Amino acid sequence: MKGIILAGGKATRLRPLTKVITKQLLPVYNKPMIYYPIETLVGAGIKDILIIVAPEHAGNFMNMLGSGRDFDAKFSYEIQDEPRGLADAFIVGENFIGSDDVTLVLGDNIFDYDFTDHIKSFKKGATIYAKEVHDPERYGVVEFDEQMNVISIEEKPAKPKSNFAVVGLYTYDNRVIEYAKGLNPSDRGEIEITDLNNVYLKKGEMKVNIIDGIYEDAGTFDSLLRAGNIMAEKATSSCHSREGGKLESKK
Ligand code: TTP
Repeated sequence: MKGIILAGGKATRLRPLTKVITKQLLPVYNKPMIYYPIETLVGAGIKDILIIVAPEHAGNFMNMLGSGRDFDAKFSYEIQDEPRGLADAFIVGENFIGSDDVTLVLGDNIFDYDFTDHIKSFKKGATIYAKEVHDPERYGVVEFDEQMNVISIEEKPAKPKSNFAVVGLYTYDNRVIEYAKGLNPSDRGEIEITDLNNVYLKKGEMKVNIIDGIYEDAGTFDSLLRAGNIMAEKATSSCHSREGGKLESKK
C-alpha cells in the first residue's frame, strides 16, 4: 500500500493567509498542518509517500519535509501544474503508484485515529471512511447496508440519508489510475473524487469504514482555529496526565 498526500490547490477560502504561504504549511497549534496527514499515514504503516504540491510552493515543502527520514518514511514529490481536482492525484501519481494499491489523504485533513487495521484488511475495490456527525447536511453523506457496502454518497444533501460524513482519506486498488483517466471535468473544471467513487459504487465495489476520534477539515478560518484549539487541548491534557503519572510514581 502506497500513500499520497494532496497538498496543492489554491486555498481561496483562507485568503489572505494563503496569499504567499501554502495552506498545508500553516500552523495547527505546534506543527505545520501537513504533519498531521503525514502522521496519519505513517501511523497506519504507510511509509512510501508521494506529496503532490503546487509549483510555486514545491521548494518550501522540500525544505520543510526533506527525504522523510525524520518521520521514519520515504517521501517523493510531484508537481501538479494546475489544480485539476482531487481525482487528478492518481494521474499525477501514476508512476509512483506503479502496480500497488493506494491511500489518498487530503493535505488539510486532520485525524486522531489509527487506520492500521483498515489498511491491513483492504483487499480490492475502494474503501471510504466516515464519521458520525450531528450536522450531516454540511458534508458528503454516505448511506450503507449492514455489510458496510456503500449504497449512496450525496454531497451536502438537504435531507441526509444517514448521520455519517465522508472524511478526506480514501483507499483504492490499482484500477484507480485507469478510472481517474476516464473522468470528464465537472462544471467547475475539476475531475471530482465523487465521480471516481461512483465508478466503484456502480460496480458494487465500495465499502465504508466508520471512524471515531478527532476529525477536522482545516480549510476555513473557523475549522483552522478549531483544529488548533483541539490539538492544544489534547497536548495539554496528555501533558497533565504525564505529570500526574510522575507524581504517582514519586509517591
Ligand atoms: P480543497 O480544500 O477542496 O481546495 P483548496 O485547498 O484549493 O481550497 P479552496 O476551496 O479554499 O480554494 O482541497 C483539499 C486538499 O486537496 C487540499 O490539501 C488542497 C488539495 N488539492 C490539490 O492538491 N489539488 C487540487 O486540484 C485540489 C482541488 C485540491
